[in-house]
Amino acid sequence: AAAASSSDDGFLQCLSASIPSQLVFTQSSPSFTPLLKSSIRNPKFFTASTVRPLYIVTPTNASHVQAAVVCGRRSGVRVRVRSGGHDYEGLSYRSERPGEAFAVLDLSNLRAVRVDARAATAWVDSGATLGELYYAVGKASNLLGFPAGLCPTVGVGGHFSGGGFGMLLRKYGLAIDSVVDAVLVDAKGRLLNRNTMGSDVFWAIRGGGGESFGVVLSWQVKLVPVPATVTVFNVPVSASQGAVDVVTKWQQVAPALPDDLFIRVVVQQQTASFQSLFLGTCDALLPVMSSRFPELRFNRTSCKEMTWIQSVPYIYLGSGSTVEDLLNRTTAASVFSSGYKATSDYVRQAIPRDVWANIFSKLAQPNAGLMILDPYGAQIGAVPESATPFPHRAGVLYNIQYMNFWPMAGGDGAVQTKWVRDFYAFMAPYVSSNPREAYFNYRDLDLGENVVVGNVSSYQAGMVWGHKYFKDNYQRLAMAKSQIDPDDYFRNEQSIPPLANNK
Ligand code: FDA
Repeated sequence: AAAASSSDDGFLQCLSASIPSQLVFTQSSPSFTPLLKSSIRNPKFFTASTVRPLYIVTPTNASHVQAAVVCGRRSGVRVRVRSGGHDYEGLSYRSERPGEAFAVLDLSNLRAVRVDARAATAWVDSGATLGELYYAVGKASNLLGFPAGLCPTVGVGGHFSGGGFGMLLRKYGLAIDSVVDAVLVDAKGRLLNRNTMGSDVFWAIRGGGGESFGVVLSWQVKLVPVPATVTVFNVPVSASQGAVDVVTKWQQVAPALPDDLFIRVVVQQQTASFQSLFLGTCDALLPVMSSRFPELRFNRTSCKEMTWIQSVPYIYLGSGSTVEDLLNRTTAASVFSSGYKATSDYVRQAIPRDVWANIFSKLAQPNAGLMILDPYGAQIGAVPESATPFPHRAGVLYNIQYMNFWPMAGGDGAVQTKWVRDFYAFMAPYVSSNPREAYFNYRDLDLGENVVVGNVSSYQAGMVWGHKYFKDNYQRLAMAKSQIDPDDYFRNEQSIPPLANNK
């Protein structure tokens, strides 16, 4: 990484007036590397050639964030905001641009969750994890939940910024569909709420992607009702048991089921695992399964009844886990030892059976990856495309996520990465097109990167990736960016460019 120049020292000098020195780390401080590594989830971005921050700042209150932005602007140091560090391309803590002078603003100390069970609302700080949010909601009431992602260590800040979906998406939509207010530090260092930031910016921060509009410090959300008993199942079907037929049928069935039944599929090697959350009892689920999806040959022995909050660790961490495990912010060491490559697609027309047979044969190749299929329909599709920046709504049958992992000790992942790219190319005829839609939170820099022209990210160049993530909402996002950050201080390789100042 670049050595600190005198202007960067100006950053430290400027900060010293407003932030206690023990909250600011330079590359030479002993805590710098462990802190940098603390929430990195993709270790391929923790190597000798990774472009690292010059500083890490760990604010403990809003004024520290305001000072970091003001000082950063004054001294030519950019900030990259990190909440949970789960960015697939590591953009919250590393740059693709050698020599970029930047600080990581690590929000992990700003992670309060305040639940008002009577009003069924909560304020959650961006540095909280989804697990901490779910835990607090579950503590407050066993009849309230929140619709967001599966992995408990994902950060609220990045997750909400890109949309956020999980097992409740058919019943209640995205995380951002339940956001009612937010607190934002803008590029001038101002502390703004829903009213003072204005409706365009408030629209933009709910799904328009992290890092583009400022630092979101906290979010007020509506909590959603869940029944006292939910039912969970996971039914594996192998290729020899007819997985190709069952997945082919699933495409029609899953997006059209009653909204309290969500069945996703993980397809890996030669097995399709049907993973489900049903908002009700096993007795209520059985007749729905036998009338709507008899091909799965589902029966009572597969049912597991529990509370909603118990289902959260059960589904993601396994049957041996507990609700307290939701508070564990550090993932197992084994996760840190695997690099990965991921990307996404949206399917609007069911893929024919013979193509599925072909897909299964590709998943049997050496070094093949896996597919996760999340069905849409019901509430997620009922929200108009322009209501939030997230445009993948009516007409989407399901989202596909492709992933491939490799042990960091075992190589650079070139073979596994190539597999994902080849598979993505193979899938082109069967998925959405013009644009080929992708989910922002499954960030993939292969979809395109910003080009900086005259010290501002180019609107034109950003269209390449922008239309895939946001369709026609890209332009309105760029207009919101012009309002709140016309100079493009908050930027990364896939941040929204300002429109007004652009050539
Ligand atoms: P991170 O801190 O890396 O931030 C991501 C981006 O947002 C960066 O550009 C960052 O600068 C910016 N940012 C972060 N905090 C910000 C803030 N407060 N204000 C402004 N910008 C901010 N998704 C999903 O929808 N459903 C799921 O079930 C899952 N599951 C899942 C599992 C695992 C293991 C991973 C690694 C990822 C997922 N995801 C997911 C994807 C996840 O939603 C996505 O990576 C989020 O952006 C992660 O948010 P973090 O705060 O952890 O990321």
